[in-house]
Amino acid sequence: MIVSILGGTGEQGPGMALRWAKAGLDVIIGSRQQEKASRVAAELNQELGQDLIKGMANPEAAAVAEVIALTVPFSAHRSTIESVKEYLSGKIFIDVCVPLDENNPRKMHLPPAGSATEEAQEILGESVKVVAAFQNVSAHALRHHEHPIDCDVLVCGNDKEARQTVLQLVEQMGLHAVDAGLAYNARIVESLTALLIGLNIRYKVKSSGIRITGLPT
Ligand SMILES: NC(=O)c1ccc[n+]([C@@H]2O[C@H](COP(=O)([O-])OP(=O)(O)OC[C@H]3O[C@@H](n4cnc5c(N)ncnc54)[C@H](OP(=O)(O)O)[C@@H]3O)[C@@H](O)[C@H]2O)c1
Repeated sequence: MIVSILGGTGEQGPGMALRWAKAGLDVIIGSRQQEKASRVAAELNQELGQDLIKGMANPEAAAVAEVIALTVPFSAHRSTIESVKEYLSGKIFIDVCVPLDENNPRKMHLPPAGSATEEAQEILGESVKVVAAFQNVSAHALRHHEHPIDCDVLVCGNDKEARQTVLQLVEQMGLHAVDAGLAYNARIVESLTALLIGLNIRYKVKSSGIRITGLPT
């Protein structure tokens, strides 16, 4: 499977890329600049000791992949989605973005659609299967790809089959995935991130996370 991470050159994308590449997926880092994508991909490959990750401009990365993840600041959410929309029909789109308040990341500024995930679905239409995941996993934890991550990943979206695929993609990273149901639950999932940022600050840690208990193993 080919998985692209648009905006994968920042904080959150590289850890996801490293973990998926180690799991045997074909991973592409997307960027607004082809050179930047190639540079970051080369750095990650050097870290892995193998040439597993490629770098491409975002539209090209979206065109060649079956699954496309988006890791850009929420301020670039709509414009980035619109810039690749034509390449996404029939595909799975994993929204990782969190609409944090730009002046205070301990608060949310949810868009009119209800959440980033629902906004993406609204922009992309029903032909694209939008699934929310990874909002509650810190970039710091993901980046240390040699270490297991002590948290769950909530996965929600309206297409059950696409949700199943993303649950598997999360597990392939070595993380525990939880089926969190329909896309409207993304409002809750995304909002947990603001809470976790507050906890990181209060407890002086980098990677607080969530764990759901009481589910069958
Ligand atoms: N960091 C975390 O711990 C974390 C955890 C959970 C969820 N998230 C969410 O994941 C998303 C990405 O977070 P991040 O920390 O990785 O962000 P980031 O490092 O600030 O940015 C990621 C990438 O987005 C692209 N970008 C920046 N401004 C842009 C613009 N105006 N238009 C288009 N692309 C732009 C840049 O890529 P190019 O310059 O290469 O195009 C940048 O490298 C956010 O929505 C965040 O809320 C982050």
